[in-house]
Amino acid sequence: MANVTVIGAQWGDEGKGKIVDWLASRADAVVRFQGGHNAGHTLVVGDQTYKLSLLPSGIVTGTLSIVGNGVVLDPWHLKEEVAKLEGQGVAITPDNFAIADNCPLILPLHRDLDGLREAAAGKGKIGTTGRGIGPAYEDKVGRRAIRVCDLAHLDSLEPQLDRLCAHHDALRAGFDEAPVDRAKLVEELREVADFVLQFAQPVWKRLKKVRKAGARILFEGAQGVLLDVDHGTYPFVTSSNTVSGTAASGSGLGPNSTGFVLGIVKAYTTRVGSGPFPTELDDADGQRLGERGHEFGTVTGRQRRCGWFDAVLVRQSCAISGVTGIALTKVDVLDGFETVRICTGYRLRGKIMDYYPSHSADQAEVEPIYEEMDGWQETTAGARSWADLPANAIKYIQRIQELIETPVALVSTSPQRDDTILVRDPFED
Ligand code: GDP
Ligand code: IMO
Ligand code: MG
Repeated sequence: MANVTVIGAQWGDEGKGKIVDWLASRADAVVRFQGGHNAGHTLVVGDQTYKLSLLPSGIVTGTLSIVGNGVVLDPWHLKEEVAKLEGQGVAITPDNFAIADNCPLILPLHRDLDGLREAAAGKGKIGTTGRGIGPAYEDKVGRRAIRVCDLAHLDSLEPQLDRLCAHHDALRAGFDEAPVDRAKLVEELREVADFVLQFAQPVWKRLKKVRKAGARILFEGAQGVLLDVDHGTYPFVTSSNTVSGTAASGSGLGPNSTGFVLGIVKAYTTRVGSGPFPTELDDADGQRLGERGHEFGTVTGRQRRCGWFDAVLVRQSCAISGVTGIALTKVDVLDGFETVRICTGYRLRGKIMDYYPSHSADQAEVEPIYEEMDGWQETTAGARSWADLPANAIKYIQRIQELIETPVALVSTSPQRDDTILVRDPFED
């Protein structure tokens, strides 16, 4: 039985949520394996719009949804998001939702530190979502995290708090901040503990059972390969590995479980937050992409930076993440452009490059080399088969496929769940 791993192949917001929701009805379980509530996945089903940050997108179809150990979990945010979704008529119970009991928690002190650092960094800031993601991952790796399973042992938390606060109080002092209020923290954890614990379990065991029964697992990545802490535009990245391999370590299944790797790719490029962006447009075309694509962050409401499709970056992401096929999204946003451009290489101090260099100064300096194609005046919005696409749109998609050396498995033509063209079913072996 094939599993499918969905990952973003650019700087996030490629439309992962829409595609995961579309695939979820064919899956038996949907698993988030990294990131946290920095993600913002938008699903549009009829006249309902669902915005998910922490919950796996499978929850909307009622598919078993799992938060894996690789995620950092803000328990208060979880409670709010569950309440919000329930308010939209989505049932969330221990039968259809589980959380890894070894997930590290995001605490208020992580959010504090994220904000303090960003404010102090001035122009050099990362432009984080301010949700405490980086500091929470630091504490996990620093072996001082409070985890979901600790919520069942709050009476014996003192030694862990000693470790955690020794670290944070020193940092806070550097920002002229008061030490952590330990009593308040424990009290707040107590208030939320039972709510979280009803879903907590060793999910590796649940997934083992699911797998043994021959069920199909859909892994839902957050962010994108260019925000990966190793492979992305460091230091302007998030603090987790966003590549496909993390699906295994972040859920408690082996590397042979990831199956078909579906890279989600936007038909142009966007980025939110600071950092290099070779094809960024600060002209009327960029503005048009942003307006037509409604490019505003789901989490922070920030305007996303927009630019032409960068085939060099996506080819690199597909290679690094072992992408089997891509879902090309938001093709409809390009409708009506006289001409469209694709970046096929870079020029760096007179040298031609066919990859994105690692050093941040080089990343900032590369100049894109463009190929221009005729656009299309017809609408592709809502197309559900190749036959509905104008010839120039097909040419554009085929050229992308060629340049990124990876086949197109799906094409998305609107935010709506079913406005999707299936070329190759990723669940078929
Ligand atoms: P994610 O973080 O990768 O899940 O993506 P976001 O949800 O943050 O951003 C993608 C946005 O584009 C959402 O508002 C989607 O509803 C929308 N979207 C997804 N696919 C398409 C598409 O094919 N066409 C258009 N016009 N919008 C799309
Ligand atoms: P989805 O899953 C786009 C960006 C932030 C910032 C950097 C670090 O919706 O695609 P962090 O808060 O993670 O420490 O911020 O990463 N970022 C995203 N950009 N989509 C996302 O998620 C993102 N999650 C984080 O803007 O530049
Ligand atoms: Mg998003």
